[in-house]
Amino acid sequence: MRSVTILQTKQSFSLLCDTIAPDKSISHRCAMFSLLSNQPSHIKNFLLGEDTLSSLSIAEQLGATVSKEGAEVTITPPEKLTEPNNVLDCGNAGTGMRLYAGLLAGIEGSFILTGDKYLRGRPMKRVTNPLLDIGAKIDGREEGNLAPLAIRGATLKSFKYHSPIDSAQVKSALILAGLQADSKSYYKESLLSRDHTERMLRGMGADISINDEGWIEIKPLNEPLKPLNITVPADPSSGFFFAVATAITANSQTTIKNVTLNPTRIEAYKILKEMGAEITFIEKENIYEPIGDISIRYSGKLKAVSVEKNIAWLIDELPALSIAMSCAEGTSIVKNAKELRVKESDRIASVLEGLQSCSIKTVEHNDGYEIIGGELQKATVNSYGDHRIAMSFAIAGVVSGMHINDIDCIDTSFPNFFDILSKITTIENK
Ligand code: S3P
Repeated sequence: MRSVTILQTKQSFSLLCDTIAPDKSISHRCAMFSLLSNQPSHIKNFLLGEDTLSSLSIAEQLGATVSKEGAEVTITPPEKLTEPNNVLDCGNAGTGMRLYAGLLAGIEGSFILTGDKYLRGRPMKRVTNPLLDIGAKIDGREEGNLAPLAIRGATLKSFKYHSPIDSAQVKSALILAGLQADSKSYYKESLLSRDHTERMLRGMGADISINDEGWIEIKPLNEPLKPLNITVPADPSSGFFFAVATAITANSQTTIKNVTLNPTRIEAYKILKEMGAEITFIEKENIYEPIGDISIRYSGKLKAVSVEKNIAWLIDELPALSIAMSCAEGTSIVKNAKELRVKESDRIASVLEGLQSCSIKTVEHNDGYEIIGGELQKATVNSYGDHRIAMSFAIAGVVSGMHINDIDCIDTSFPNFFDILSKITTIENK
């Protein structure tokens, strides 16, 4: 298990980030949605992280031919998805497992979805229950809640489902099932979660729309979709680590290039702006979704903030945002975020444990926490195998120095993270 030491540098920097990892959510969807076409999909800037490479391997196991030249990937779907002769390993990826569950629920054959020890401990009921209700045949430990999941493709009924959680993974799994159902289906959530699935599938020709009452209407496919032709934009949640580093380091500035500016993905930048950082969004194009640059400039000590709305729009960035909160003046509050408990780690517990080691005072709540801004101290923190915890504390190291145990997980989403970090600080023992 690798660990790393970040040396405190505290020196100002000016960073041009044009190699932030490609978007993980969009890359997963490229691997899966290409299977719904009958022609090759061309994807540029595919994320070569462990999570999304797992989704690509599963596409191959289902019969697709994948050719890869660096980050340029061509996926040629088979005429008909084939039953694989081995288990389908999603690695650490909740998105991989939940979306494939929805896709495979309606495909003829037997499929076993599994993953690493962390993923095998995460709740799958949120997708298996609504899928079982429409005729899917899925089983797993704890009555279908825990992977490995055994799926036997079945005929799926149409549905009208109001999800109790705002989750793009649940929504996407149900949309993929709805495309295979016997008639039109309807899906609703209280807050629109990230909508890459709707945008991409619509771009491929699927009949997916949202009505006046906020129900997403999904018409079953009657023919294969058009192939994808896409350059994956940079991932705003990966870029956000460097946004925080900038906002807590005096006289620094960063520009993140070619990142998705999808409104469901940039909420954390808006909160950082509310805390006092200078942040501008410059939209440059719109292909499936708005894409452009985000500029961040240090603008004095940050102020505490209260975060309780639009949680699904910043759930992935909360660990990094917590580092900004720990450097801010005053007490910051996070509420309505109990989803953090079931991410790659229990992120409420892992963030607070790390911050306490760094001498920051915190208060834990069931669905959130309070962080009393102070002075981060160098400490040894554990990532609990969670990429975002490891990277958040690496960023904290820029101002205080930090030793982080178990950093291999960073390869799931951001393999070149340390290459960029080394431009602004000194890294030992990698
Ligand atoms: C994702 C959705 C989010 C997010 C995850 C990626 C996706 O999870 O936290 O990192 O690609 O659909 P939930 O849908 O469970 O909130």
